[in-house]
Amino acid sequence: MRHRFHSICPYFAMFPEAFVEKHLAASRFSGVVFDPFCGRGTTVFEALLNGRQAAGCDLSPVAVCITGAKCDPPAREEICFRLDELESSLSIPSPPFLSDEMVKFFAACFHADTYGEVRFLRASLDWRNSRVDRFIAALCLGALHGESHRSPNYFSNRMPRTISTKPAYSVRWWDMHGYVAPRRCVFAILRYLVDFRFRTLPPKERGEVAESDARTAFLALPHLEGKVTDIITSPPYLDTTNYREDQWLRLWFLGEDPHSNQARDDGRHCNKTLYWRFLRAAWEGVSPLLAQQARIVVRIGGRKLSKEEMFANLLESIAGATGRHVTTADDGVTTPVRRTQANSFRGTKASATVEHDFCFLVK
Ligand SMILES: C[S@@+](CC[C@H](N)C(=O)[O-])C[C@H]1O[C@@H](n2cnc3c(N)ncnc32)[C@H](O)[C@@H]1O
Repeated sequence: MRHRFHSICPYFAMFPEAFVEKHLAASRFSGVVFDPFCGRGTTVFEALLNGRQAAGCDLSPVAVCITGAKCDPPAREEICFRLDELESSLSIPSPPFLSDEMVKFFAACFHADTYGEVRFLRASLDWRNSRVDRFIAALCLGALHGESHRSPNYFSNRMPRTISTKPAYSVRWWDMHGYVAPRRCVFAILRYLVDFRFRTLPPKERGEVAESDARTAFLALPHLEGKVTDIITSPPYLDTTNYREDQWLRLWFLGEDPHSNQARDDGRHCNKTLYWRFLRAAWEGVSPLLAQQARIVVRIGGRKLSKEEMFANLLESIAGATGRHVTTADDGVTTPVRRTQANSFRGTKASATVEHDFCFLVK
C-alpha cells in the first residue's frame, strides 16, 4: 500500500515516489540522500522508507512544513491530545484588517464558522517550533482548499487543490456559478485525517528539512558536510511557474500577510543565462555537502530549452560548481508531463510538455 504520508498535501511539480525509488535502487551508495529543492518532500520521505538517512531544503514555508511533518512526525497520540487542547480553548479571533478584495475572497471561500476556526488555528499553531503543530498545520494545508463538492474533507468553496487561484478570479467564478462555501467542521476533518494518515506507520528513520535557499544549503545544514552520496532533485523550471503566487492561500495560512509584496513577487526564472547562473550557484551551495563520490539525479523541464541544452548546461554547471570530475551514464531519459490540475489551469503555454531525467556521477 502507498504510504499515506506521501499525499498529505498536493504540490505543484511534485515527482512520483516511483522515480525516487528507481534511483535509490540504482545507487550503490549508502550515505545521506539530499534534495536541495525538496518541495513536498518526495525524495526525503521515500529515502527514509528505504532505510536511508535523508534531508532536504526549500525556500518555501509550505514545502518546509509539509516535508518536516512527513519526515519527522510526532506520535499520533500527541496530535490527538493537541487537537483536544486546541478545540477546548477555541476562541474566534476578530476579523483581520484586509483589503476589500481579500474580504470578499475570504467571505466566499469559507463558511463564516469554518473561516473562524481556520483563523484560530492560523493564530495558534506554532508550526516552526513544534513538531506536533507542524503536523497539524500540514494537515490543514492539505485540506485548506480543493474540490469540496467531491470530498467532505476540504475546508473551502470549490477550488483546485494543487494551486490557489487568485482572489478576484475565484470570487468571479464562484459568483458566476452560484457556488457557496459549505460549512465544514475543521476539528472533525482533522481528526479524520489523523486516523487516515496514520493507517500506515511512519518510518523508523527521521529526516530533516531546512528553510533555506539551495545556494546556501551548506550553511543551513553544516553537519552534513561530506556526507551526501545521492542527490535526487527537480529544480524550478525555466519560465514555468511562480511558486509563491501559486501557493498564496497556503502561505497565508502559515502566517504570511496576503498583501505583502513578497506574496506577489514573481520568483519565476525567465532568462536562460540567469537561469543557468542560478543553477550553478545552487550546485555551489550543495557542493560542500557531497561525499567523495556522489550521484546527482536531476528531473528538469522548461519550454524554452532543448534536451541537449539542458544536458550540456547541467554537466557544465555541476562540474564548474564542484570542481570535480563528472561523468554520465546516459544522455538522459525523456518522459511526457502528466496532465495535472495545475497545468490545466495554466494552459499549455505555461507548462513544460516533456521532462528529462539526467544522472551524473561526481568524483
Ligand atoms: C519542481 S519543485 C520540487 C518538487 C519536489 N520534487 C516534490 O516532489 O514535491 C521545485 C521546488 O524548488 C523550490 N525552490 C525554488 N527556488 C529555490 C531556491 N532558490 N532554493 C531552494 N528551493 C527553491 C520551490 O519552492 C519548489 O518547491
